[in-house]
Amino acid sequence: MLENVKVLYGEEAVQERIAQLAKQIDEDYAEKTLTVICVLKGAVFFTVDLLKQMKTQVSLEMMQVSSYEGTETTGKITIKKDLEQDISGKDVLIVEDIVDTGYTLQYLKEYLQTKQPNSLKIAVLTDKAERRKVDVKLDYTGFVIPNEFIVGYGMDYDEIGRNLPYIGYIKS
Ligand code: IMP
Ligand code: MG
Repeated sequence: MLENVKVLYGEEAVQERIAQLAKQIDEDYAEKTLTVICVLKGAVFFTVDLLKQMKTQVSLEMMQVSSYEGTETTGKITIKKDLEQDISGKDVLIVEDIVDTGYTLQYLKEYLQTKQPNSLKIAVLTDKAERRKVDVKLDYTGFVIPNEFIVGYGMDYDEIGRNLPYIGYIKS
């Protein structure tokens, strides 16, 4: 079904980069407990592999948001699944698969900030930097990627392709 998928970053390269990010996060949160918010569904694969390589004590939360797009990306986001725990006073890390326009992460960051965490940072696996419409500070970035449609390692094309073990792109 998914034809013309080319490998952008192979399985090994992805795991190596995630190990580096895990180490960096461990250093930054030494002795702390980190509340990790996995943004469903795309960030599931990244979150699992990242957390397995981290030593920091972690509490895992899931959120799901959806963006409504007409002909133009409006940036209108709604929450489909919210947090289960109170994050006030906590050190929180949002884990996301890909940043495109930045609307999703901007919305999530503003929303979570209203809950008054002690700190709030963002880890993304891939950053389609050229496409950014709003400026969002990314604290940990796996790969800066070209403006291509990305699939694999959690990312989908119409819900297909998430389970590819590498980061690929659809060759047009
Ligand atoms: P943003 O709000 O425009 O930054 O979009 C972020 C969301 O759009 C991501 O969480 C993905 O679900 C989706 N997305 C953006 N670009 C791609 C892509 O190339 N492949 C798969 N999903 C994408
Ligand atoms: Mg996503």
